Amino acid sequence: MAPREYVRVYLRLRLLGCLILICGFFAEASPLSAASAGSAATPAPADPHTLSPSDASERIDALRTEIAYHDELYFKKSTPVISDAAYDQLKRELVALELAFPAAARDGAVATEVGDDRAGSFATYRHRMRMLSLNKSYTEKELRAFDARLMKQLGRRELDYVVEPKFDGLAISVTFEKGKLIRAVTRGNGAEGDDVTANVRTISALAQALRAANPAAGAENSMPDLVELRGEIYISYSEFERINRERESAGEPPFSNPRNLAAGTLKQLDPAVVAQRKLKIVFYGCGACEPAQARPESQQALLRQLRAWGLPTVESPRVAHGADAMWRAVQAVGRERGKYDFPTDGAVVKLDEVALQNQLGVTLQAPLWAIAYKFSPERVETQLRSITLQIGRTGVLTPVAELAPVKLGGSMIARASLFNADEIMRRDIRVGDFVYVEKAGEIIPVVAAVNRARRGPDAKPYVFPAVCPSCQSALAQSVAEAAWRCPNMNCPTQIKRRVEHFASAGCVGIRGIGPATVDKLVERGLVKNVADLYRLRAEDLLSPGAQAGKSTDRLLTAIEQSKRIELWRFIDGFGIPQVGPVAARALARRFGGLAELARSRQEDFFQDGRTAISGVGEGPARAVLAYFAQTGNQEVIRDLVALGVRPTTSDGL
Ligand code: IVH
Repeated sequence: MAPREYVRVYLRLRLLGCLILICGFFAEASPLSAASAGSAATPAPADPHTLSPSDASERIDALRTEIAYHDELYFKKSTPVISDAAYDQLKRELVALELAFPAAARDGAVATEVGDDRAGSFATYRHRMRMLSLNKSYTEKELRAFDARLMKQLGRRELDYVVEPKFDGLAISVTFEKGKLIRAVTRGNGAEGDDVTANVRTISALAQALRAANPAAGAENSMPDLVELRGEIYISYSEFERINRERESAGEPPFSNPRNLAAGTLKQLDPAVVAQRKLKIVFYGCGACEPAQARPESQQALLRQLRAWGLPTVESPRVAHGADAMWRAVQAVGRERGKYDFPTDGAVVKLDEVALQNQLGVTLQAPLWAIAYKFSPERVETQLRSITLQIGRTGVLTPVAELAPVKLGGSMIARASLFNADEIMRRDIRVGDFVYVEKAGEIIPVVAAVNRARRGPDAKPYVFPAVCPSCQSALAQSVAEAAWRCPNMNCPTQIKRRVEHFASAGCVGIRGIGPATVDKLVERGLVKNVADLYRLRAEDLLSPGAQAGKSTDRLLTAIEQSKRIELWRFIDGFGIPQVGPVAARALARRFGGLAELARSRQEDFFQDGRTAISGVGEGPARAVLAYFAQTGNQEVIRDLVALGVRPTTSDGL
């Protein structure tokens, strides 16, 4: 977007904010200024007309700090805590202020950078041609202004565009030399990124060499000496759901959206772990190309060439002649995106002809010949009735927003994750507040912002409890995680969650033991760990005064039968942090028995500083060692064996 357009967009937003103010609301009442409402450090957007240069400079600094914080969460940790729309709004305000106050903006305008996804754990590689981001638009008017600017600058009366879905994943540059895949690098800071070649090679649909023959054209494909092909790595919705089910069974918090999962996966150090999560790739662009004449002369030709080389590319690009057709094509992507199995958050409009693209050029951040149109996420307002704490089986306490039920994206929403205590404080979310709820990545409901205008006078800042609501142990906060934990392994709620998980169908699968039975057994002190299940007698399963019947017999039989099921199910059932069914299968194959696994040592997992068991990354390996370093867990294994548990070693694959 041209600088002046940014200012115009900004002023339009301000005008809307003022109108809302006049109507008796604060600007924060508007979902448009949700980002501000969502952050304690960010009051309502500042009006450049009323700001003094020193206020502007202060506001610019605050916005940069805020954006850097969210960049860190998004790019490095893949755990964003605000919606993309809220983040975009922060950036737009910063751009507007930087343009209005160039002197105040001084050095290092973050708004003109593309972020930085380098993780620090990979070798880095310098792109031959910079990897850019895209300017964004949110309204039809902004898209038409883009077209008008291009026509004016190029002196044309009508232009051809290609409209594609905007894939919501991680940008990647894959280099082919004489047709052979030699390197895959993330965008990084635009100039250099992480070399993730080994991980990208695990993507099954990605050919390791470009196809030489082009049957469609009845000829050979052109084969550049070197070409950097640009695209996106993503995870399909179906794979996202499968992996989250696995995470849940490993006691890990679910990934909040497919984009974070794709990013987190691509940055894994063990390619075997990456291979287990079915990443996908799509190509839509071209960076450096040698010789230059080998570069296709239009976006349409590039997409055809990518397909002819045998690479996954945009399935159904829309070609649009002029602004009306371009806007219709963008709307069509918006209508159809519900049917895609890949996550998309917008459409990308690209000028078709490369010669014209070159006339327009690029800025440090984005090409001037393309623009992204972002679809606005559906958002509803509802009241936060209370904040409850969910205790996981590893003791982590996750605050959950209990909401007045409300319909969002076709389903009723009554709960949303609040991530962690720090996030509640930082955003000053209070019980009784009216909040805006969105679906992150179209799936998981999140509290996107607070409507402070509707805050009652008695609303009190939320105070995170100092003790576990279940066992009253003092909570401990781990510096690395920002999560509060109940450190008491014997906390009854943790025991219940661990036993429930162990007995669940995905793990050992004891039919007839549901949460209600587990609650009773733990509350009566009959079950303190999973081995105790195998000590249960008929009388333990009866309510006082009741007679043993068929259901008691069935339950005892189910417990007995579970002694002979696959080993990996037990390993999964222990709920070792980061160990889900996939790692459990790999561990079962490697160790073959409960006692052998319990005796495992550092050197079984790591050799020459690398992980030694395919499918068990560094995190799970350390978690297994830490788990069996606890004498209580060793005792449980000894008891299981003594009670006749003899898992089989077929891994059920
Ligand atoms: S073209 C030089 N086309 O969106 C322009 N980008 O928010 C390069 N993206 O950095 C980008 N789908 O990672 C292009 N069909 C598409 C895209 C796409 C997703 C990503 C890309 C870009 C980001 C900007």
